Amino acid sequence: MLRLSPSRFSTVALGLALCAPAALVCGALHGAPAAAAVYSSGDLVRLARKETVLFKGEPFLAGPKGQEFTVLKHEPAKGQVYLAFVQKEGEVIAVTLPDASLELVPPDGWALLIRGTQAFRDQRFEEARKLLGRAAQDPGFKGVASGVALRIEGVMQAGGAALQAKGGPSQKAFIEALSLGRDTAAEVFQRGYTSVAQALEEGLDRLSARVLAQKEDAPPSKLPREELANRAAQAAFSVVRCRQAMAVRRMVEARGYIDTGLKAEPARPELKAMLLKVEEDIKDAENRGDSAESNRRRNLGQALLALERGLKLCSDHPRLLKLREEMSGALEERTAPPVTAEFVAAAKPAAPVERLEQGRQLYTTRCTQCHDLEMLDSRTVGNWKSEVAGMARRAKVDEAQQNVIMEYLTAAHSVVGGMRKSQ
Ligand code: HEC
Repeated sequence: MLRLSPSRFSTVALGLALCAPAALVCGALHGAPAAAAVYSSGDLVRLARKETVLFKGEPFLAGPKGQEFTVLKHEPAKGQVYLAFVQKEGEVIAVTLPDASLELVPPDGWALLIRGTQAFRDQRFEEARKLLGRAAQDPGFKGVASGVALRIEGVMQAGGAALQAKGGPSQKAFIEALSLGRDTAAEVFQRGYTSVAQALEEGLDRLSARVLAQKEDAPPSKLPREELANRAAQAAFSVVRCRQAMAVRRMVEARGYIDTGLKAEPARPELKAMLLKVEEDIKDAENRGDSAESNRRRNLGQALLALERGLKLCSDHPRLLKLREEMSGALEERTAPPVTAEFVAAAKPAAPVERLEQGRQLYTTRCTQCHDLEMLDSRTVGNWKSEVAGMARRAKVDEAQQNVIMEYLTAAHSVVGGMRKSQ
């Protein structure tokens, strides 16, 4: 995949609130239909194939296969799914993909645990029971999930009894169950599951407000609630931003989100999993960088290729970017050589200088809006022709302009090919 810079696209944020990231990851869970999938808000889906993500009908991002998104809305009649894309500042915009390109990500033990606790938070008790029961079957989350399930069951039952009896011993029993629930929240928090603790606390708040006439009777939380809420939101934001950064191979940025995310929620499984992948890719990119550096004097073509591959693995690695800056002259020679006298002399077939210059101008301005230019000798002239035709709509170049670009690219291809042979 090419390095894409989403910041270069005009992105008008929709009016979705800043606090959305938490709601996004956690939205309501509805059953996952087996046949022609209909996605619900809050579902986690992933790309079953490589596909271009659109924003307001325009290409926005190259979505690699496997990229995960949270569903905002599905319009089956149009075959379109609106998905959440979270901006740096926390704004959420709705991007779209065809529904045929997506598949549901089946919830794992962690997803069941967090969604179950959030169902309790939203006072959907039956759903909470079901999800937590399933989470408790996952060996990785058995302890936490069954602990939370037990406490939630306790408060739900005591709450029901207290509501029916109105006061007396059943009210006392409910207060005791609440207190145990607060203990469990503190314990879960200690174990690093910030978001579970947060959802559990909020659920206890709501339930006690419904059951107890006197607010003062409710046992207080044992956690710093404002900090807890901030940390839960931070963790959810970090997960989504990290996923997005990884999709455009900004691995250094992704590692930053993992660091802040794990500070907010030390046990967060998605972050731990992403950390492994990110570290591996950064290491691979660094190896390519080493190879580019050591080849720089001996074999420039080889060095540039290693650098290009390194940047494809990790597009925001400071050392590789610095190297690219240093080698920008040589890189330009192989991606978009300037139309000099030598160029014109070597160009095959011969073409008028003005046309070549116009072609280079179009190529280096229209084709760099979303990604870097590729090495000319990475494809044949025929392949370049189909790439240019394929990108024409995105780059807003008409047929005449495409022809001018191709005249330049054909000439440049021959010049670069000549360079290679003479090396
Ligand atoms: C509006 C953004 C945009 C513009 C402008 C643009 N591209 Fe692209 N380009 C993309 C995206 C997104 C991809 C990723 C692959 C895909 O989704 O098709 C891509 C991929 C490519 C690839 C790699 C394809 C592959 O499979 O590796 C080439 C080559 C390319 N573009 C050439 C061009 C050329 C030539 C132009 C100018 C005529 C151009 N691009 C203009 C967005 C753009």
